[in-house]
This record gives sequence, structure tokens and C-alpha cells, in this order.
Amino acid sequence: MPAPADTLTIDWVDGGVRLIDQRRLPEEFVLLDLRDYGDLAEAIRSMAVRGAPALGVAGALGVALAAAQMAGEREQVFWEGLAQAADHLRGTRPTAVNLFGGIERAFRAAAAHRAEGPAGAAAAALAEARTMIEEDIAANREMGRHGAALLPDQGNVLTHCNTGSLATVHYGTALGVVRAAVEMGHRLHVWVSETRPRLQGAKLTAWECQQLGISHTLIADNVAGWLMRQGRVDAVIVGADRVAANGDTANKIGTYSLAVLARAHRVPFYVAAPVSTIDRQLASGEAIPIEERSAEEVTTVSGRRITPPGVVAYNPAFDVTPARLISALITERGVARPPTTESLQELFPTPATAGPCL
Ligand code: MRU
Repeated sequence: MPAPADTLTIDWVDGGVRLIDQRRLPEEFVLLDLRDYGDLAEAIRSMAVRGAPALGVAGALGVALAAAQMAGEREQVFWEGLAQAADHLRGTRPTAVNLFGGIERAFRAAAAHRAEGPAGAAAAALAEARTMIEEDIAANREMGRHGAALLPDQGNVLTHCNTGSLATVHYGTALGVVRAAVEMGHRLHVWVSETRPRLQGAKLTAWECQQLGISHTLIADNVAGWLMRQGRVDAVIVGADRVAANGDTANKIGTYSLAVLARAHRVPFYVAAPVSTIDRQLASGEAIPIEERSAEEVTTVSGRRITPPGVVAYNPAFDVTPARLISALITERGVARPPTTESLQELFPTPATAGPCL
């Protein structure tokens, strides 16, 4: 087996979907082999696979897996079943637009090969998902190239949640930019915020930094403001789950607080995301659907309740940072600095087409 740091987060292997089970990290490095799209949907819902770009590929592979499962069916059964599978996958998590984009891309690829029958359509869905895997890795490398120049030659960068290899197919978005900068010789130290309640920072980002040999220190989420006040943060860099057409950005809960703190302390606040995370159908962040997860994620830590019985908890998984608080949006096509409706439009060769996803 390849070393953990070299293993793709999600891939198509031996006729099924293989993914790193992120619920088990950092204690155990376990690969899941899934042969049923319903199991993949459950893996998305329960966050065995997570992070917007990884979810985009998971959505596409989910459609490809469903198509492969039904490739022997009659035409009508195949198409009805594939539409149902796409709906099922869409119902898993609402915020990361990449998930919907991935499902749509694989479904459209299948539909474009309808004349070749179910087997031909299934092959086309898989080819599209595989293309997305390659594109993801290339986009992250490009983001790293564009974004590294924004980070100081030497200093402290604060990041939130997990935006490394685990949140993508490989390399990462915001943590990918840090990684690229370190590879180019920047002497950076990373403040890793723990990211309550799911602890993606403590469990996943700290693990990835260790694997990569990136200097880092874990902090509780509420330490960030105090560090900034002492001048110990030179830049904040985070990822995104959905960027509206005007640059408003949904990301892991706590991101907005960091952006407000960064502005108050005149610290640059960067977002790194592939263009597939930009939802050109939404004029502003107000319409971004925010996932609310179970209260137990807040009232328990590692399965143990930390509150008196009966305590009510509110658990939004994401928040929206207004574009005016973002210094730059780093994409694989270049940097929108600052992100505005106009600067984001320049990243796209064609105007946005109206209309709903599938
Ligand atoms: O709930 P998660 O862990 O899927 O949330 C992930 C994030 O918020 C990431 O910051 C975002 O998806 C960008 S990942 C490159």
C-alpha cells in the first residue's frame, strides 16, 4: 500500500470506489472499498469523505457506480434508476456546490452516450469522473502556484478546518497553497484551529501537517483573536464550500469570525478554491443553503456526552463570509483580488448560463 500521504483521498479502483475513511483518522488509516452507490451516499453523509472538492468527485463517482451497478438493466430501468441514484446522492449534504456539480457532470456524460445503451452510458459516466480526478489534482497544484506568492517568505499562517489532500483528491486547496509555499522555500509556521465540533483541524489538518513535515501548532478555536492581537498571525487562509457570484463565501463554521478578526487586526484573509466551487447562479451568499447537523456533534466529544442531559445545542456546519472581508480568492485560473462580481467573471471564458442543476 502507498504511504498515507501519497494515497488519493477518493478514486476508482477494481470496479468500485475506494476512499480514505476520514472518520477513523488520526487513530487509524483505513481504506473503504464501496460497491454500492447507497453506501457511498452514506459515506458522504457521515463524513467518511468530506471537503468540497472531494465531494465533487464523490458525487461523480457515485453516479458512475450507480450506472455500473445497473449497466445490465433494460434502457428504461437504467435511466429511472440513475435519476433516482442522482437524487439520493444530492440529498446527502447541501452546502458544497461541488457535490451537485460532480453529480451533474457524470449524469450529463452518461446522457450524452445514451445511444450506446446502458453499458456505454455507464462507461461515459466513469470516464467523466476520472477526468474530474485528474482535473482536481492539477487545479490544486495551480492554486498552490498562484497562492504561494501571497504568503510571506517567513511567518505565521492561520488555517481553519481541513483543506489539504484529504479535502480534495490530492494536494489540497488552502493547505495546498501553504504546502506549495513551503516547497518553494517559504519558512512558514501554521496555526491549526481545532474546528469544533467535528475537529477537522485537530484530527485531519494536524495529521497532514505531520505527514508533510510542515511546522504547525494546534490551537482551540477561540485562541485566534488573541494571537492576532499579539501580531502573531501574518495571514489567514481557508477553503470554501460555495462561493457566490459576488465572492461571498460559505466555509466551515467559524470562518466568518476569523474574517472579522482578521479585518480588525489588518491581517490579510485569503480563500483558496477551484472555480468549480463558484456558484455563478447565486448572486450573493444569502441564498447559500447552510447544513445543520445533529446536536450530538456538539453535546458529545468522541462519543462521550459533555453536557447535562437534555441540553439543547444548535449546530450549523457552515457560515458565510461577505466578500468585503476577503482580501483575495485564489483559484487555479488566477487570483481575484479582491473577489467581486467583476473579478470573478474574469475567471470564466463564457457568461454564466441560467438554469437549475439537473
Ligand atoms: O464539513 P466538511 O469537513 O466537509 O467541511 C469542509 C470545509 O469547510 C472546507 O474548508 C471546504 O470544503 C474546503 S476544502 C478544500
